[in-house]
Amino acid sequence: MIKDEIKRLIEGRQARVGVIGLGYVGLPLAVEFARKGFRSVGFEVDARKAEAINRGESYIGDVAAEVIAEAVAAERLHATTDFDLLGTCDAIIICVPTPLRKTKEPDISYILAASAEIQKRLRRGQLVVLESTTYPGTTDEVLLPLFEEQGLKLDEDFLLAFSPERVDPGNPQFKTDNIPKVVGGCTDDSTEAAALLYGQIVREVHAVSSARVAEAAKLLENTFRAVNIGMANEMARLCYHLGIDTWEVIRAAATKPFGFMPFYPGPGIGGHCIPLDPHYLSWKARQHGFDSRFIGLAEEVNSRMPEHVVTLVTDALNDDRKSLKGSRVVVLGVAYKKDIDDVRESPALSIIDRLRAKGAEVRYHDPFVAELRFDDAHTEGPGEPLQSTALTDDELRASDVVIIVTDHSGVDYRRVCELSKLIVDTRNALSRDLRRGSTARIVRL
Ligand SMILES: NC(=O)c1ccc[n+]([C@@H]2O[C@H](COP(=O)([O-])OP(=O)(O)OC[C@H]3O[C@@H](n4cnc5c(N)ncnc54)[C@H](O)[C@@H]3O)[C@@H](O)[C@H]2O)c1
Repeated sequence: MIKDEIKRLIEGRQARVGVIGLGYVGLPLAVEFARKGFRSVGFEVDARKAEAINRGESYIGDVAAEVIAEAVAAERLHATTDFDLLGTCDAIIICVPTPLRKTKEPDISYILAASAEIQKRLRRGQLVVLESTTYPGTTDEVLLPLFEEQGLKLDEDFLLAFSPERVDPGNPQFKTDNIPKVVGGCTDDSTEAAALLYGQIVREVHAVSSARVAEAAKLLENTFRAVNIGMANEMARLCYHLGIDTWEVIRAAATKPFGFMPFYPGPGIGGHCIPLDPHYLSWKARQHGFDSRFIGLAEEVNSRMPEHVVTLVTDALNDDRKSLKGSRVVVLGVAYKKDIDDVRESPALSIIDRLRAKGAEVRYHDPFVAELRFDDAHTEGPGEPLQSTALTDDELRASDVVIIVTDHSGVDYRRVCELSKLIVDTRNALSRDLRRGSTARIVRL
């Protein structure tokens, strides 16, 4: 049986593992297989990334260059743009982007492109796993027919599964090996082989009955976050109108030892997952005549947060008899979350856009993001990139308002509180002690 052949190769660490797409998800995965003794091949369309890996360099914050260099030197890791090498791989894992179209419909063109490369070289004895987040049914309805076009048969010749990625960039506690992995195959043999493969690099594998269940589980996880963050954001706006401190309310509610899980408001959601993934689910639901109300509502509430932040800034300046127009604004942090360099879908882009549209003079400081390009960010703003400004004493003193949009750990918030006139804190980054000692006026979300 093909399953047994593949399992033998995995158990003997003889299987060559190919990873397509060496980004936030694919690179740590390829490195982990190499670290566990497999020969790992990374496939990229971006030649600069492949070259960097082969030189032993890293471009992903969570993956240390030394680890890459060691794996490359030991000939356990190799990156390439030559997709013909897919034919030499026993297991192939797809980790390419799954963005949305302008219409907010799923764009699975990257999955299709990667699958077309596999299809051309698919041979007997290969296990293919899709990791990119996508709607339930993609593996069964899109990938399987494509692969079977070649005349090869599932279970007899090759195996196919879905296993969602849960990497949390910048999280020092949870890395590839200690995040449980959900695996669902198109057949039981596929589930078994894929579970065995991941069992080599992660401590816990949770097998489910189908690829669809695994696809839906990933979308539930991220939709759960989007909806709960939406609830926290709505609560923040509600508390603003009632003049109540939202953060204190959440802290108090979180003392309940059961039935409550704290989620926090913020300037809006960002990254490649939470703002996008729920749309994959609602789109698929619509195909079946079902309207998922929570998803739409959460999106509506979350997408209004940048506008709310600008309202807070405008109101706070107004209290100082100043207008937003002509005010000097420093946006502190532009990454979508703390301690990482990812600005994809970051609310900072929309906030900066809105501030500039109202005539504010905007600068930003982010220790992780040297340059901010607006054309990449699908905003309507000017195409000219902005450069991160040094957070000097003079810069802080000269600002009319500092807006904390991302609460990076390395920023000297004490100095910000000592030198600025006005701070709008959208992340509750300033502790109670800092707030008490601050000479700046502080407005919190
Ligand atoms: N970033 C996260 O935190 C995260 C977490 C969980 C799941 N995911 C999901 O994982 C998938 C990948 O996300 P990511 O953040 O790693 O994206 P990314 O943009 O960081 O990386 C994707 C890589 O794939 C490459 N690529 C694109 N098309 C290719 C092709 N046809 N062949 C080979 N390489 C190709 C790109 O050059 C890029 O380097 C997405 O579906 C995403 O939703 C991401």
